[in-house]
Amino acid sequence: MPTIKIEGTGEQFEQTESQDCILRAGLTAGYGLAYECNSGGCGTCKFQLIEGEIEEPWPTAPALSARDIKKGRKLACQCKAKTDLVIKMRTDPEYAPINLPARFEATLSSRRDVTSDIVEFCFQAPDSSDAKFLPGQYAMLTFPDGRGPRAYSMSNLPNGDGVWEFWIRRKPGGEVSGALFDELRVGGRIVVDGPYGHAYLRAESERDILCIAGGSGISPMLSIARGVLMDPDMEGRQVHFYFGGRTPEDLCGLDELKALPGFDRRVHYRPAISMPEYASDWTGDTGFIHEIVENQLGNELSRFECYLAGPPPMVQATTKMLQLQGNVPTGQIHYDPFY
Ligand code: FES
Repeated sequence: MPTIKIEGTGEQFEQTESQDCILRAGLTAGYGLAYECNSGGCGTCKFQLIEGEIEEPWPTAPALSARDIKKGRKLACQCKAKTDLVIKMRTDPEYAPINLPARFEATLSSRRDVTSDIVEFCFQAPDSSDAKFLPGQYAMLTFPDGRGPRAYSMSNLPNGDGVWEFWIRRKPGGEVSGALFDELRVGGRIVVDGPYGHAYLRAESERDILCIAGGSGISPMLSIARGVLMDPDMEGRQVHFYFGGRTPEDLCGLDELKALPGFDRRVHYRPAISMPEYASDWTGDTGFIHEIVENQLGNELSRFECYLAGPPPMVQATTKMLQLQGNVPTGQIHYDPFY
């Protein structure tokens, strides 16, 4: 069982499970190793190997530039220790997991079409063990035959019944989403590893909530909205919920929001479409969702706790708008970049 030491911090942990990457080994030991996507795309988990040998199955992961490769930088979410290691890596208590990630095989208990390309998958953990996560977080899903992992955000709330619910969009050419849509039937099994992510609901904040979702980003935003409306301590908070789709057929989530207590008083649902040429009878907002948010809330954006999820270009454009036009401090903007 290799031991991994982080140079200059006095922190060390063991890679107790053979399939673990260095990042997971550190997080399950409770350490705040810096990370975001857990998928080789963002580069937040870069480290320098000082001593020891690693296994690096994906040496050309997108987060590694030619300069990184030349300098010998590696990704903790993609590498495993083969021997004891000494590494140099950023750690911060803000990355330390509130709920330690757990890995278990779950059974698909139901699936339901939400739109033509989004399906709700409900997985049941063994022995109904608690589903411990925070609204807005994600888990890594892997098929028992090894396909995956792929990061997907939960759409439900933490619960004592062992239910992990995901709204997943079919990604064209996506191996895991294709297999979920085409092969997985009720009773089928998947390996769940989670929770991960930092874009979780800050229940302690007194600010109103702004949720901005595009496409399958609806899943964590639904979890955030549910978290606000189901928490008696958040009774005073309003939820402004913006959801952008290409056409009206992409829009979803309103029925689930309407089912929440206090919806009429506290939720302001604002759907918009970006391709009105395909929807002649649409009378609602049209355009990119970040532009619509700016037009409608521009002067007051800095009073919100902002949560975003969706395709990377939408998240990048929205983050830039919130910071530059909205003067929203970085600490009030929460998202997990997936690639
Ligand atoms: Fe490892 Fe994003 S590249 S966390």
